[in-house]
Amino acid sequence: MHITINPTTADTWIVPLVQTDTLAAALEEIAAETGLSAERLQQDFKGDAKEALPLYMPDGQKTYLLGLGKSPETMDWLKTFREFFFRNKAKLPATISIDLTGFGSDVVEAVVLGVRAGGYDLRLYQTDKGDAPVFYSEAGTLGIRVDESAESTTKTAVDRAEAIAQTRHEMLDLMNAPANYKNPQTLADWALASGRKHGYAVTVFDKAAIEQHRMHALLSVNKGSDLPPAFIIMEYKPAGVDNARKVGLVGKGITFDTGGISIKPSASMHLMKSDMGGAAAVLGTVEAAAKLKLPVHLIGIIPTTENMVDGSAMKPGDVIGSYIGKTIEVIDTDAEGRLILADGIGYMVRNFQPDVLIDLATLTGSVIGTFGYHAAGMFTQNDALAAELAQAADRTGERVWRLPLWDVYKEDIKSDVADLRNYSGKPFAGAISAAKFLEVFTEGHTAWAHLDIAGTAFSDNEFGAQKNASGYGIRLLIDWLEGITG
Ligand code: BES
Ligand code: MN
Ligand code: ZN
Repeated sequence: MHITINPTTADTWIVPLVQTDTLAAALEEIAAETGLSAERLQQDFKGDAKEALPLYMPDGQKTYLLGLGKSPETMDWLKTFREFFFRNKAKLPATISIDLTGFGSDVVEAVVLGVRAGGYDLRLYQTDKGDAPVFYSEAGTLGIRVDESAESTTKTAVDRAEAIAQTRHEMLDLMNAPANYKNPQTLADWALASGRKHGYAVTVFDKAAIEQHRMHALLSVNKGSDLPPAFIIMEYKPAGVDNARKVGLVGKGITFDTGGISIKPSASMHLMKSDMGGAAAVLGTVEAAAKLKLPVHLIGIIPTTENMVDGSAMKPGDVIGSYIGKTIEVIDTDAEGRLILADGIGYMVRNFQPDVLIDLATLTGSVIGTFGYHAAGMFTQNDALAAELAQAADRTGERVWRLPLWDVYKEDIKSDVADLRNYSGKPFAGAISAAKFLEVFTEGHTAWAHLDIAGTAFSDNEFGAQKNASGYGIRLLIDWLEGITG
């Protein structure tokens, strides 16, 4: 499918309608243009969110009225179009146009993201998928009608949405891939290919290099796995921008989490193929930032390994080292994310000294207990950073909500035998003690934020009967980066 702005012809139109005082008048106008009864239209279409009414014209033209409810936000536009296209994609014609006259470029971007998201196909490994929907094939065309004066801003919004959607889909595929289709090397290869394609530097430390760098926490988590770990470093520098802000992103890249010797119950263990949601957010954000040529110096780091069980696996009670030299008593081998992040964060801080440091991780079941699947837990001591991220979350609909980092929670990670331990042993405040653990490895960085995305990265939606990838984090971080670079 490709997109054209202000197409000259289309036989199928989508007219989005917001529930305002002018809805009745808008329906009257449509009635007059189409020769239908205004009264009937007003009776049959109320503009409720996601309400869709197809109208068939005698000349063969078809128009869908699509409701958006009252005062829709960006996410409502995105979701309405995502659902409409997902549900109808098999019967949509090759050429469809959407009438967005009178709406701004934020709406254009959300609509294009929604149309693209609706085309996502979860059936990655099904052998009989039938015919691909013609609208989403090479032959498909999406027309976007806007006011003539808005054509150039619309073009920018469309290009931006297309860039983000393309990257996001690749991340969805990676997230939804099972562990026999992806491993640490898969993430490394993706980063290397992306760096070559979009002109940014990627370095991958293999196991020997990880040993040389004394990343003992990452190596300890890797001990039970047949596959080597990897440590991915991506660096995008904007051309011709002096004094660009330096932003460090660290993402948890556990390609499968069995829990290790502290093994997980089997009922939901299959979902742990998604334990690289933080890595996906970082991979996607660095690629999207490079494509959009954002004026920011971005460093992405991904420590990646499986967390497996075998005779050489790390055991509960083991005391391990870490990149910055702190020793850790491993109470629970299932609290592995904070271990690999300890080395990722430690390496980032010591080698890159970023102005701002954000880590993202599918870190705790506790954050799901708190927010369900609707918001990420945000932890930071920096109020300005918290406010910026909260704003980006409001704009993108990728919610964050702040939780505390009070020092009273340090008790939870105190060890008698090592510098700290990885689990309190108590079933309370798990997301907070995990964040307090990570804080140690930031070595006092004053602009650090941790996002616990365990609930938001992989959740229920219209694409399938089971939980699947949301792509959470890419739009949030891109929006935030654009905000801080002005
Ligand atoms: N990857 C899990 C967290 C998780 C749980 C993500 C559910 C997505 C959905 C993490 O490694 C983990 O196992 N955390 C433990 C920590 C505990 C042992 C301290 C948890 O939250 O139960
Ligand atoms: Mn775990
Ligand atoms: Zn995990």
